[in-house]
Amino acid sequence: MVRSVQVVSISSLKGGVGKTSVTLGLASAALAAGIPTLVIDLDPHADASTGLGVRADGKMTIGRMLKASRKASLSDNIVSSSWQAKAVSKRSLTRVPVLDVAVGDAYTGIYDRPDLRARDLRRLTQLLGKTSGYSLVLIDCPPSLNGLTRMAWSASDRILLVAEPSLFSVAGTERTQRALEMFRKEYAPDLGRIDVVANRVRKDSDEHRFRLTEMRSMFGASVLSPELPEFADWQQIQGAAYSVHQWPGQPAQRTAGLFDELLRNITDTAAKPGRA
Ligand SMILES: Nc1ncnc2c1ncn2[C@@H]1O[C@H](COP(=O)(O)OP(=O)(O)O)[C@@H](O)[C@H]1O
Ligand SMILES: [Mg+2]
Repeated sequence: MVRSVQVVSISSLKGGVGKTSVTLGLASAALAAGIPTLVIDLDPHADASTGLGVRADGKMTIGRMLKASRKASLSDNIVSSSWQAKAVSKRSLTRVPVLDVAVGDAYTGIYDRPDLRARDLRRLTQLLGKTSGYSLVLIDCPPSLNGLTRMAWSASDRILLVAEPSLFSVAGTERTQRALEMFRKEYAPDLGRIDVVANRVRKDSDEHRFRLTEMRSMFGASVLSPELPEFADWQQIQGAAYSVHQWPGQPAQRTAGLFDELLRNITDTAAKPGRA
């Protein structure tokens, strides 16, 4: 059976490198492009849910759904993002673009263990297998390589590793890639591309330029274009639970354009196996 949905995990060993920001930027671009999208907030901190302006409001959070993965219905428990409502009212669209969220909360943390069994690793795959109608699924991972991130990898067609151009982040990305190759052999032989997204790049910094060159020589063609620069308005936009495409001003529009390009580069390249 040919799968028409692309499942993408956004992960990294480190926190604060921009996983949630990249997830939100891509979700924003997908909404603007009218691509039916589901964001799964797998981080117990639930920052993606906050950024997308959602609460569970009586629905099951992703942690509860994972716990009951054989019985729970993902479709019955997703919440539509507040961005979607804004997009509709702003453009008075008749066809509603879809941006749904499987809401995160601290309960998900029960699976963030290093010793998760193989059948627990399949819980998210099980849930996703029962849903349809999305062309893109974005999974925002926690900053660890424990059970939750591995659950996301098992369910994914391709993986984006977010890295800042700094010594520890580049080293962490290399460790994550090695862990991923081992994981691929053992649990996910069909896993597709593993790519790197450089975030918070300051072109005027000698250190950043040096680390970017290092990243390109280490990770080659898997460093995706475009690189994402330091963007002063990010915190304000995320704090207001806005989509970058809906935020006024030229800097936001420039950033929105970069995410459009990144999304095109992700959805255009087939998720075929390839060493990163
Ligand atoms: N390109 C960027 N420019 C400016 N601030 C950024 C950028 N990327 C992320 N941030 C900020 O850095 C902080 C951490 O980013 P976040 O996306 O939450 O990282 P992670 O999900 O990897 O922990 C957030 O406050 C976010 O707004
Ligand atoms: Mg995050």
